[in-house]
Amino acid sequence: MTQTTFAITSAGKPVQDIHPLVAHHLLVVGQTGSGKTTSTLSLLDQLQRTNYTTIIFDPTGEYSKLPNSVTYKLGENAYLEAGQLSAHQLREALRIHGNQLLNDKLAQAVDALRIQQNIVQSNKPYVKIGVPIADYQKQLAKLSNWSRSFAPQQLAEQLIAEFVIPYPDERADYALLGQQYDRPTIN
Ligand SMILES: Nc1ncnc2c1ncn2[C@@H]1O[C@H](COP(=O)(O)OP(=O)(O)O)[C@@H](O)[C@H]1O
Ligand SMILES: [Mg+2]
Repeated sequence: MTQTTFAITSAGKPVQDIHPLVAHHLLVVGQTGSGKTTSTLSLLDQLQRTNYTTIIFDPTGEYSKLPNSVTYKLGENAYLEAGQLSAHQLREALRIHGNQLLNDKLAQAVDALRIQQNIVQSNKPYVKIGVPIADYQKQLAKLSNWSRSFAPQQLAEQLIAEFVIPYPDERADYALLGQQYDRPTIN
């Protein structure tokens, strides 16, 4: 155990054992230049010496040159697997700030593609024309947390497939997901 003093308590007592310090949540605050980064680096250095594994989420890259660390950079050597994301996470990742309709349709499209991949075992879009609502809901109910994955390359086409509506006349069948494409809204 190292005897380095890397902190002093408010009572003026030197802190020599790092474990109680990091066993709880720890917030480092102070003005710019007051030593936050230096203190944090010292903590990380102590943790490395005691063989702790530390994971740093570093939005500015300030800690990327830390010795003995493995650095993953999103888009360079780390990637988001689009087919594992929720509709909400997709919107955040792609910075889609659409209206409510588009948000709802995107969520539906992800659900439909999850059904395709995990229940129908197809990588094609889910064509909703003529599908009874009851059948669709049974498929939806079969999805579990284990069947989150979907084919992201079909997302654009699936989004179009979501815009199905009943016929506008006496042929309308409300037991079906849809009977024709809502072309004006798709456009
Ligand atoms: N305990 C310390 N003793 C002397 N200099 C320090 C100490 N802590 C930090 N510094 C120096 O002060 C400057 C600002 O420290 P830094 O950790 O970058 O502050 P912050 O992250 O709070 O802005 C740096 O040049 C650093 O080397
Ligand atoms: Mg800093």
